[in-house]
Amino acid sequence: MSKIFVDACFGKETPYTPVWMMRQAGRYLPEYMEVRAKAGNFLNLCHNPEMACEVTLQPVDILDVDAAILFSDILVIPDEMGMDLSFVKGEGPKFSDPIKSEADLDRLIGGEEAASKLTYVYETIELIKQKLADDKALIGFTGAPWTLATYMIEGQGTKTYNICKKMMYSNPDLLHKILRKVTDVVKIYMEKQIEAGVDVVQVFDSWAAAIEPGMYDEFSWKYMVEISEYLKEKYPHIPVILFPKGIPAFLDKVYGNFDVFGVDWSTPMKFAKERLGDKYVLQGNMEPCRLYSKEATTKCVEVIQETMQGKRHIFNLGHGILPDVPVENAKHFINECHRVSGKK
Ligand code: CP3
Repeated sequence: MSKIFVDACFGKETPYTPVWMMRQAGRYLPEYMEVRAKAGNFLNLCHNPEMACEVTLQPVDILDVDAAILFSDILVIPDEMGMDLSFVKGEGPKFSDPIKSEADLDRLIGGEEAASKLTYVYETIELIKQKLADDKALIGFTGAPWTLATYMIEGQGTKTYNICKKMMYSNPDLLHKILRKVTDVVKIYMEKQIEAGVDVVQVFDSWAAAIEPGMYDEFSWKYMVEISEYLKEKYPHIPVILFPKGIPAFLDKVYGNFDVFGVDWSTPMKFAKERLGDKYVLQGNMEPCRLYSKEATTKCVEVIQETMQGKRHIFNLGHGILPDVPVENAKHFINECHRVSGKK
C-alpha cells in the first residue's frame, strides 16, 4: 500500500496534505505519562523497545497523524559513544564529562562500533513496523552533528553556546574533528534505522540559529548534506527531511540532495516557498504556541494552506509541541490540516 506521507515527501500528488507534529509522542499526552511512570524514567523508556513502541503509536491512534516518529532521543548517540547521559528532573539533559580536548574526543567510541550499540533503537523500529498501519509512515531521526556537538561540548543545554563558540573561533580544527566523528556515527546509525524499517528520516538541527549565517555551511549544513547524500546514494526510495531551525538568512544558500526542507516557525512559509519550493517539498510551519488557541490554530492552518495550495507540502509545527498543550487542541490542529486540504 502506498503511504501518502512518503508520496508527499517525493512531491507526488496526494488526496490531501499529510500532517504530523514534531515531538508528537510526549508529555502532553496522559497516556505517555502513564508509560513513562511505568518505565521509571525517560532513559529507561528509550531503552525499552516494547514501551518505546507503545508511546510511538499513541499519537497515531489518538490524533490520526499520517506518520509516526520513532520514540527515542537525539542524545542516545553521544551516550553510546561513551559520554554519560542523564536527565536531571526539571533541568534537562546532562553529560558528566563534556569534551574539552582532542584526548577527550579520542576516548569516545566511533563509527560502526558506536552505531552497533544502539540495538534497542533498531528493535523498537522492528516492533513498530509490525504494529503500524500500512498506510502510515514511520519516521526515523537523528540530531544534526552541530546540534549533538553543542550538548557534547557544553555538557547540557545552553542559552549562549559560549563554550562551543569559543571553540569555533579559537580552535575550529577541534570542533571539525568532533563534527567528523559524530557525522561518521550518524551515517551508520541512520543506515541501520533504515535497514530496521523506517520509511523516512529527519535530521533535526535544533540549534542551527546559534551559528552566524556566513559560517552555518562550514559548521553544520555541509555535514547534514553529507549524511543526506550518503543515504540518498544507497537508499534513493527513502525520503530525507532536513530541519534546520531558525536560519531564514541562510535560505538563499541552501543546497544538496535531499527531499524535504523543514521550515521553522520564524520563517514565513511564503518566503521559504519563493526560495526553495521548486527544489524541495516544504514541511511546516505553525508556531507551536498557537496550539494554545483553537481559533489561532485554524487561522494559521488556513493561511499556510492558501500559501502552499496543497502542493509539495507537508503540514507540521514549526518546532516541537510543548508539554502543557491540551490534547484536544492538538487534535484540532490535525483535523484542521486534513479539513482544509480536502481529506474526506
Ligand atoms: O515525538 C517525537 O518527536 C519523538 C521523540 C523525540 C524526543 N526527543 C523525545 C523526548 C524526538 C524526535 C526528540 C528530539 C530531540 N531531543 C531534539 C531535537 C528536536 C527538538 O525539539 O528540537 C533535541 C534538541 C533533544 C534533546 C532533549 N531531549 C532535550 C533538550 C530534552 C529536555 C527538554 C524537553 O524537551 O523536555 C529532552 C527530553 C525528551 N526527549 C523528552 C521527550 C518526550 C521529555 C522527557 C520526559 O519525558 O521527561
